[in-house]
Amino acid sequence: PTIFVLNGPNLNMLGTREPEIYGSDTLDDIAGMLDKRARGLGLEIDFRQSSHEGHLVDWLHEAAATNAKAVLLNAGALTHTSVALYDAIKAITVPVIEVHLSNPHTRETFRHKSFVGMAAKGSIAGFGAHSYLLALDAAAKL
Ligand code: DQA
Repeated sequence: PTIFVLNGPNLNMLGTREPEIYGSDTLDDIAGMLDKRARGLGLEIDFRQSSHEGHLVDWLHEAAATNAKAVLLNAGALTHTSVALYDAIKAITVPVIEVHLSNPHTRETFRHKSFVGMAAKGSIAGFGAHSYLLALDAAAKL
């Protein structure tokens, strides 16, 4: 079984991007941690990043078309703006788990609304890179 891990805009900058908020792990580091944990769970990770909304929409459709077990989605700032991602999550039956490194609810008010969270199975936020591992464990139990 395959778990898609989809990352949105600016997440390719992890490691040097506002490390006081997002930590010092790079996206490659996170992909490595997930691969290791997934192997122990008998799962495969398909890990991707794009700063383009349409790519994320296409990948959600692809997750459905290929019968992925679940999607972990950190949509970055698109979380707070994208009706297209909301619709794409609603359009598929694959469970989508919202993931964030930071806890958006403790930050600027423009981060308090989540189109992803309104359509997702559940959300994990605020634990840095570990949020992804917690979400993987949750996906494994679905
Ligand atoms: C983020 C939180 C978003 O508000 C922000 O725009 C990001 C990263 C997180 O993982 O904490 O790009 O999704």
